Amino acid sequence: MSLDQRDTREEPRHEARKPSVRETMLAALDSAIRAPSTHNTQPWIFGIEDDPAAITLFADTDRALGIADPTNRELFISCGTVLHHVRVALAARGRACRIERLPDPAQPLFVARVTLGESIPITEEALALEHAIQERHTDNSVFQRGALSTTVLDRLAKMVSNEGARLHVLEREDERAMVADLVAVADRVQQEDPLFRDELAHWLRSGIAQAEDGITIEGIRGFIEPWIVRTFDRGDGEAARDRALILEGSPCIVMLSTERDTPMDWVRAGEALSALLLGVTDEELSSSYLSQVVEVSSTRAALDGLLEGRIVQVVLRVGHGSGGRQSARRPVRKMLKTRSG
Ligand SMILES: Cc1cc2nc3c(=O)[nH]c(=O)nc-3n(C[C@H](O)[C@H](O)[C@H](O)COP(=O)(O)O)c2cc1C
Repeated sequence: MSLDQRDTREEPRHEARKPSVRETMLAALDSAIRAPSTHNTQPWIFGIEDDPAAITLFADTDRALGIADPTNRELFISCGTVLHHVRVALAARGRACRIERLPDPAQPLFVARVTLGESIPITEEALALEHAIQERHTDNSVFQRGALSTTVLDRLAKMVSNEGARLHVLEREDERAMVADLVAVADRVQQEDPLFRDELAHWLRSGIAQAEDGITIEGIRGFIEPWIVRTFDRGDGEAARDRALILEGSPCIVMLSTERDTPMDWVRAGEALSALLLGVTDEELSSSYLSQVVEVSSTRAALDGLLEGRIVQVVLRVGHGSGGRQSARRPVRKMLKTRSG
């Protein structure tokens, strides 16, 4: 008898205890809160229900961005990203789920109820996306030149359309130039607005180790550097602000659109954004945002011509980047609904 065999017989193996349904829901939430949100506001509140087992998701308007996002459009998109992350995290733990979006018209902040279903086999795809949740982060570096493969872009477009939204890849140089110009215009509009600057400053954290939300920027040297969180870092701590720099550092610009512009469209856009970003991460690519062009209403309207009658919700850069790392999150317990709440 080999040593290995004897060890196995003498020490009965303890099977890992199967987690309870409640533990599974909490573990899924622990993963899902890695989802992206505007200014890392994490504007969501969760409830846990036992019978039937369900996770409820509410928009937290105490964390709204009243200036950058006065209609709460991006707040609902952020809630959509965390909803999709919950779905992925449950699938990676072998649980089916049923989603009701905006289930109660009397409670407009009630974004979704996720009711757990039966146990399901854990697929490779589910595990890959769960891994992507842990790896994904916004990358505000200059991206390498060169087009992305059509196979990759087709896969990403499919992931977006599966969530009821559409991916538009800007291929024509005149379209890319137009978007870059509009980003630069929107950037200036926001930069010149003291209320916008105050709101952004409120969510900036300067190298604070214990920060649990907001955007951490190490060593903010002056007033203007925070602007790199709005476009991207040219590589010298300066924001890319004009057309040429935006285009040079963004070989692939994509837009995500919906049919209409209601809270339901925003939630679905958020789910599609999450699917897209997890796909991007799984393809070992990076992503970051050019949101100012959608946040300023005049520049958003100017994008209409590119969208075949659809409504733009998110504009992103996708490519091979080099920067960024995971940002801080509040612990799940701070996001749970209190009994009275
Ligand atoms: C709808 C939406 C819009 C965003 N817009 C911007 C943006 O304009 N500029 C930027 O740098 N990050 C933007 N972000 C990214 C967030 O700042 C980022 O997700 C958050 O700080 C958490 O960091 P992480 O993505 O690395 O986890 C946006 C995120 C979402 C969901």
